[in-house]
Amino acid sequence: MEPLKVLIVDDEPGIRSGIERVLRGFNVSFPFLETDFTFDLISVESGEEAVEQIDRGQIDIVLLDNKLPGIQGIEVLEYINKNQIGVEVMMITSYANLDLAVRATNQGAFNFVPKPFTPQELRTAMEAITKHVYLKGIGRNLNKTEKQNRFQFLSVLSHELKSPINAVEGYLNIMKDRQIGEDIGDYETMIDRSLVRIKGMRSLIMDMLDITRLESGVKNREIKPVDLVEIARISKDTVEPLAIQKNIKIHMDLPEELIFNADSNEIEIIFNNLLSNAVKYNKESGEVFFAIKAVKHEIQVIVEDTGIGISQEDLPKLFGEFHRIKNDKTRDITGSGLGLSILKKLVDMYHGRVEVESELDKGTKFVVRIGSY
Ligand SMILES: Nc1ncnc2c1ncn2[C@@H]1O[C@H](COP(=O)(O)OP(=O)(O)OP(=O)(O)O)[C@@H](O)[C@H]1O
Ligand SMILES: [Mg+2]
Repeated sequence: MEPLKVLIVDDEPGIRSGIERVLRGFNVSFPFLETDFTFDLISVESGEEAVEQIDRGQIDIVLLDNKLPGIQGIEVLEYINKNQIGVEVMMITSYANLDLAVRATNQGAFNFVPKPFTPQELRTAMEAITKHVYLKGIGRNLNKTEKQNRFQFLSVLSHELKSPINAVEGYLNIMKDRQIGEDIGDYETMIDRSLVRIKGMRSLIMDMLDITRLESGVKNREIKPVDLVEIARISKDTVEPLAIQKNIKIHMDLPEELIFNADSNEIEIIFNNLLSNAVKYNKESGEVFFAIKAVKHEIQVIVEDTGIGISQEDLPKLFGEFHRIKNDKTRDITGSGLGLSILKKLVDMYHGRVEVESELDKGTKFVVRIGSY
């Protein structure tokens, strides 16, 4: 990630060099991001110079002392505000009286660090302002439809998380009040149900991360020759436990090996989604047929099941985010409705296509075609 440009404005050389010492080599990292933030520092000693630097653009964060020889820090802040310049300001001042704090906050200063401060106080304040700059940047870079999409996506997501959270909370409250007995064994069903709900939430969050990574393009793709047959076997192992529970047999029709230029994680996600659906939406003692073939210049992945099938009306909606078919047969099957939308996005990245044929109560056949390149 590009370093953030930080402008330090203070008339005391000792403070300037102190801040520089703390911030040079300081990284801010967040658990939700793969890269760290570092800082490029520019120091000036007056408000006039600060305005000059800010006018040149490219500054992200200003660490602004208030008591300056010429124009005051607060006036620099007012200037930024009046001209709607997209920088974030942290006020640094020894005269941290309430009046100034209120004025600075009204003028949009993000936070306040009173002098003297310890290196750790400065670092903590920098972490907060960096996160703010980052999140604001995301918002700014979205156009209106993207903002609406994100809003819709997050609304559905929070809605999906609400009911498992309520369920687990309910169970915990019952246990806390020991409503059905003193023995932990009395609560076994509730504990199991809670664990199932938590597992569901975890996989929803993982799906979400896949989607947002794909959409933001930040995911590091590693395209290299991979053996699709080997990945298919790994996927089979992943869904096998589920298949055993429903006594479903998975038949694999695979060549010796099939080398293809791809990112192996992405291929695994494609295979896992197809196979897990073929098992999940199957009947007791059903069957799944999985095949990979190289036909001319394309690879075909065919996954067929003997499951509940999908009606013609539902077929076109399958690949939408959070789209799940609701009927008597799917009522007890858990899922977030994200699997196929992720699959579609991935297949698009390989300039491929997905075809589905299905007959209610008979079964479903998915064919994914991706061209070699
Ligand atoms: N092989 C299949 N047979 C019957 N219905 C299917 C099959 N695959 C998908 N579906 C239907 O399509 C819907 C969307 O599938 P998708 O994989 O996107 O979500 P999910 O399985 O509900 O959840 P997730 O995969 O995110 O855990 C499913 O809810 C199911 O109703
Ligand atoms: Mg699925």
